[in-house]
Amino acid sequence: MLTMKDTYVVAVVGATGAVGNEMIATLEERDFPVKKLRLFASERSEGKELTYRDREITVETLKENSFAGIDIALFSAGAERSRIWAPIAVRSGCVVVDNSSQWRMDPEVPLVVPEVNPEDLKWHKGIIANPNCSTIQMVVVLKPIHDVAKIKRIVVTTFQSVSGTGQKAMDELLQQTKDLLNFREASCNVYPHQIAFNVLPHIDKFLENDYTKEEMKMVNETRKIMGDNSIRLTATTVRVPVFRGHSESVNIETEKKLTANEVREILSRAPGIIVFDAPHKDVYPLPVDVTGRDETYVGRIREDESIEKGINLWIVADNLRKGAALNAVQIAEKLIERA
Ligand SMILES: NC(=O)c1ccc[n+]([C@@H]2O[C@H](COP(=O)([O-])OP(=O)(O)OC[C@H]3O[C@@H](n4cnc5c(N)ncnc54)[C@H](OP(=O)(O)O)[C@@H]3O)[C@@H](O)[C@H]2O)c1
Repeated sequence: MLTMKDTYVVAVVGATGAVGNEMIATLEERDFPVKKLRLFASERSEGKELTYRDREITVETLKENSFAGIDIALFSAGAERSRIWAPIAVRSGCVVVDNSSQWRMDPEVPLVVPEVNPEDLKWHKGIIANPNCSTIQMVVVLKPIHDVAKIKRIVVTTFQSVSGTGQKAMDELLQQTKDLLNFREASCNVYPHQIAFNVLPHIDKFLENDYTKEEMKMVNETRKIMGDNSIRLTATTVRVPVFRGHSESVNIETEKKLTANEVREILSRAPGIIVFDAPHKDVYPLPVDVTGRDETYVGRIREDESIEKGINLWIVADNLRKGAALNAVQIAEKLIERA
């Protein structure tokens, strides 16, 4: 458990990655009370220097005693590293906020979005899981609606940027774009197909039920975060050639009828959301506009004319911020508030 201090020793595990880099920037921007920052990555990055508050910090590799003296560790180095190292960190007295999928559905581990279920932090036993990026931005918007009108069913299609896969995928989109514009063949290493100038209806592995793991993460994590197993949800997750920012088309069916104006009203009062919705003036959220922003943007709010109590929404957020680094830092801030 975290004890109250003026400043904390913080670690970022996976510091050289797409999320890790954003975590370092977020800690600095939000003036998180850092006494000392330790940075960890693989052997490939050992000795590399990263900048935090105009100081160079040397990247270390993980060792059995690495977590001694560290209060809070933000993990974003993949599920396998979290499986091995998070329990070691907890045994050293550290609280872990984990970005990987490793602990999310563990019944002993709270899965937290601070705007939605901060109360679940009460029962953590050392590890708190950060949800999947596409789930975070959806539940931030759906929870306030659920509280008023009870959502019965969700149909979501995502348009996810390549930064959701990590740095290598961003490099691949850039390289393929350059190659194709120069009449060279594009090589595919990260995704099974060309991502430049293309759309892939495939994120993560395919499962027995023909859904992808990403789609089932959205189903299971949404129910756990919203604390409601009765919500029915079906997802199609799609990778698009966008560098940063995930977009989602979300259709919901509610128990109580809501008008589009009532939904705008509810969402404009909810935390962490910007209603950006004036379609007749071409105003709706776009990934290029939300890059670097903390809030989740929602637009194209309209009644679903095919059912009695349905609403359509277009939800966009920066996956590296609210979908990962920012949510993790907000969890750490809540932990400090409770210490
Ligand atoms: N990208 C997103 O939008 C997003 C959102 C939510 C959650 N996540 C999760 O966050 C994690 C990281 O994602 P990412 O997008 O940042 O990936 P990434 O860009 O590929 O970065 C991976 C990081 O993990 C480090 N790493 C790899 N092997 C390691 C080892 N053996 N020991 C210590 N560090 C090691 C890498 O270090 P090197 O540079 O030395 O290889 C790098 O810092 C994943 O679990 C992912 O599922 C990502």
